[in-house]
Amino acid sequence: MSKTISVIGAGYVGLITGVGFARLGHNVICRDINKKAVDTINSGRSHIYEKGIDEILEKAVGKNLKATIDLKESVLTSDITFICVGTPSKDNGNINLKHVKEVIRDIGEILKEKSYHVIVVKSTVTPGTTEKIIIPLLERSSGKKVGIDFGVAVNPEFLREGVAIEDFLNPDRIIIGSYDQRSGDLTEELYSDFNCPVLRTDLKTAEMIKYASNAFLATKISFINEIGNICKGLGINIYDVAEGIALDHRISPHFLKSGLGFGGSCLPKDTKELVFKARSLGYEPNLLTSVIKVNEDQPKRLLNLVRKRINSFNGKKVAILGLSFKGDTDDTRDSQAFPVIKQLLKENANITAYDPKAEENTKILFEDQIQYADSAKAALENSDIALILTDWKEFENLDFDGMKKKIVIDARNIIKNKENIEYEGLCW
Ligand code: UGA
Repeated sequence: MSKTISVIGAGYVGLITGVGFARLGHNVICRDINKKAVDTINSGRSHIYEKGIDEILEKAVGKNLKATIDLKESVLTSDITFICVGTPSKDNGNINLKHVKEVIRDIGEILKEKSYHVIVVKSTVTPGTTEKIIIPLLERSSGKKVGIDFGVAVNPEFLREGVAIEDFLNPDRIIIGSYDQRSGDLTEELYSDFNCPVLRTDLKTAEMIKYASNAFLATKISFINEIGNICKGLGINIYDVAEGIALDHRISPHFLKSGLGFGGSCLPKDTKELVFKARSLGYEPNLLTSVIKVNEDQPKRLLNLVRKRINSFNGKKVAILGLSFKGDTDDTRDSQAFPVIKQLLKENANITAYDPKAEENTKILFEDQIQYADSAKAALENSDIALILTDWKEFENLDFDGMKKKIVIDARNIIKNKENIEYEGLCW
């Protein structure tokens, strides 16, 4: 049966969640404080780049999805509210709950005027946060009692940017942690169209499943990068090794792409937060700290490879192809391209960059320090060296004519056409 769902925060997670629920036939109200984003959504378009999102939005807006800046209207007119606001990391690796706390306090106030309502935490929060911070805050600001006047659940997301809609509609599993049976049942009903396993847990277990999933994926990537770095020294292609180990069903072929390492808004942040949490318990998480260290070293390894081919970056024209943290997204948060760019700038390189989607987001950090080209071809023109930093499909068969010297360092194993170029892979 269709429900009315309010989704608080219409960023990547919130908008995909809203659009996904609308696609399942629920009525959705997306609430965001960014008026421009709200207007864009209401015009039937997405303010973020994500495959397939505009097609669903166009059909849903005016029918069963709308956006608003009004929090009160969103909560009062819905049956269930999903919290999807950002939870960035502080510099020390601890989670910043500022946005979650603000919105929870306001929702608590609104709950004073509402009969039974369920609040579902989808924002990634460290284990224990919902129980120890969110519920007490909701009770204080509403003057009501959890389990009686309102319900609370944790429903982490496992969406990959770029294929997030597909992931939402074809989940491997749904994890629902709940304060009590009623909150969990109401949350589970929303997913009744899916055939995948649904795992019901308590609140902090669901929170931990999210962190453990991302930390495991990060570990897999740093593992394959470490093996790749060893393989490189031995003259072995890591991609052949990965193919061989992936045939063991216990290992599986996924997340074994060796290269520049993991970026994005989740894997680096969640792994660091788990380290912080572990230390706060007096436990030193040696494996996770190594996962982070291997990842932070990959951009340095790339630059060392380049240094072996050209003595100094001073005044050299470097073409950077790829700025987003992975292909098929305009997101540059924690992109592994950025430490490379920062170091090159320190060493006075002359950078021309090209990315099919991420130029605007890169300009937030590097406005005038680098030049931007409209195409890969234009970025490569007259360059001394090309660094391929993101796995955009359009880079597969690039034409390197026009470069001064055709030195191409591929950090993502994406280049197929290697004829007549001086090609080197990061770990192969
Ligand atoms: C990740 C998880 O995959 C999602 O399950 C999770 O829901 C999401 O974080 C989140 O917590 O919100 P995402 O950040 O979109 O999704 O990106 P991934 O596809 O996981 O890629 C992360 C990074 O790892 C990228 O920089 C990518 O280039 C890199 N990567 C990935 C590799 O270097 N090798 C691989 O084999 C796979």
